[in-house]
Amino acid sequence: MASKGEAACQKCINPDCAAEFDCSQTLVKCPKCGELLDIVYDWNKANPPEHISHFARRWAGRDNRLDFSGVWRFRELLNFCPDDHKVSIGEGQTILQQNDDLAAELGMQPGCLHLQYEGLNPSGSFKDNGMTAAFSHARLVGATASACASTGNTSASMALYAHACGLKCTVFIGSGRIAFGKLSQAMDFGGHTIQIRGDFDDCMRQVQDVCTRLNIYLVNSVNPFRLEGQKTIMFRIVEQLGWRVPDWVIVPGGNLGNSSAFGKAFAELKSLGLIDRIPRLAVINAQGARTLADLYNDHNLRWNDGRVDQSVIDAYYADLTAKNFSPHTCASAIEISRPVNLKKCLRALDVCNGVVLAVPDEEIVDAKALVGRYGLGCEPASAATVAGLRHMLGNGTIEPEETVACVLTGHQLKDPNVTVTYHKDNMGPFSNPPVEAPNDLESIIRLMQ
Ligand code: F0G
Repeated sequence: MASKGEAACQKCINPDCAAEFDCSQTLVKCPKCGELLDIVYDWNKANPPEHISHFARRWAGRDNRLDFSGVWRFRELLNFCPDDHKVSIGEGQTILQQNDDLAAELGMQPGCLHLQYEGLNPSGSFKDNGMTAAFSHARLVGATASACASTGNTSASMALYAHACGLKCTVFIGSGRIAFGKLSQAMDFGGHTIQIRGDFDDCMRQVQDVCTRLNIYLVNSVNPFRLEGQKTIMFRIVEQLGWRVPDWVIVPGGNLGNSSAFGKAFAELKSLGLIDRIPRLAVINAQGARTLADLYNDHNLRWNDGRVDQSVIDAYYADLTAKNFSPHTCASAIEISRPVNLKKCLRALDVCNGVVLAVPDEEIVDAKALVGRYGLGCEPASAATVAGLRHMLGNGTIEPEETVACVLTGHQLKDPNVTVTYHKDNMGPFSNPPVEAPNDLESIIRLMQ
């Protein structure tokens, strides 16, 4: 493990291959067998602390840019590059909000429901946690150009970090498949934006080929360094719960990078003795983009010690192709039918005794309105977590007195169209439409009574 005296190396997740490569290489899949890669550590060299509370002390020295970063203050747990290559623009200053009002609405006990609001990141989504790590690696390998396929947030985050590091960046998005707030960010941050006539999965395929052909640094979550940064979302949840592990973590599932990173985070914390147990993980698909839910629940696809049954996946995708299927959900961030991190997510579900479910759009927008009414707001994909929680409370999977952390992955203002339509068109029980008033004092006062 961790060749050439370094603390980290890249390793193929296929146990029958398990090839290792040093971190100075730019790879998004194993050159030997084509599987996904992990970053693995020689923990003796990575030098993790004995107690996880060590990291919190760094908040006292916020004049150090790495201590200020909510990602890099955990740097011993993602120790893959020297400090002078690490880029930070203040990511990870996010909060875990205990939300008793929403808990009561859902029938949970006070103190049990927490919302991890990743909308507070510089580009307004959790992606900045991963992008800071990917761009630090990009600097380590001397990359000059970056690219991604995106449903929006990856592109906004990439454009921001590329700008900070002086790299060129190109964004591939599906025509008409991106929320306006996100598109505006990519353009404003100077991203070269290419709209492909297709969906996210088409863009993902194209960008991988483009990056290989033109030797461009790919920052989608097939990039294993990105997932290292996303582990810190879990570190911050545990930290903010006073070093207690919640009973459940609930996350939306799209390309399945987050869920994969969270499983890895908990497996590593446990193996280092920094936590004493691993929480359960619930991954929530939208019903219109439910590949994971179908494969996990209906086809019983499992990690199986790394020997995932590829024939089940191939048959499922062949069926999607035969039906000319394209995913559709109002939660455009997770409108993905061929998730690139599927196998790593299966590993995370295995590590965390996980569950998967798919929720309909109507329930996502209702849940989003509740998060807005009682919390800090979020974009539709993030609210899938609360919609999923409601189901799991209803069918007894989660008990009202269990501790739950829902990861709210993106800012409320990312997708104002969904919010405005929900309220103005009275689409659900929590709609709060504006009322028209004549330009006349008495009429206005009457409307306020
Ligand atoms: N929530 C939001 C707000 C997202 O933007 C995404 C993914 C997800 C959840 C799903 O996360 O892929 O780790 O399962 N957005 C990507 C993008 C695909 O291009 O911005 P995942």
